[in-house]
Amino acid sequence: MPKLVVVNRAGEESAIEVDDGLTVMEAIRDNGFDELLALCGGCCSCATCHVHVDPAFMDKLPAMSEDEDDLLESSDHRAETSRLSCQVPLSGELDGLKVTIAPED
Ligand code: FES
Repeated sequence: MPKLVVVNRAGEESAIEVDDGLTVMEAIRDNGFDELLALCGGCCSCATCHVHVDPAFMDKLPAMSEDEDDLLESSDHRAETSRLSCQVPLSGELDGLKVTIAPED
């Protein structure tokens, strides 16, 4: 099971074990982080699952779709490392991935 490290908005870090195939959003939501609203349930239409990804993992992530790019553009907190966590499935390759929940827009 891949390990995911989540940094909440207070800067506290937690490591969680995640079933293969879940998205980063599902993993965060199902582990009780209520800061990540994920209002649309993962269909790439709300941008409330915005995270900043550890730069070391950026080139291992799936390519960003145009929809994700457009939604991230609406955030005041977009950075080079921004992704919508519902668009990133976890796999063995991403074991140890670290993400920081982006500030609320
Ligand atoms: S949960 Fe809505 S865009 Fe990710």
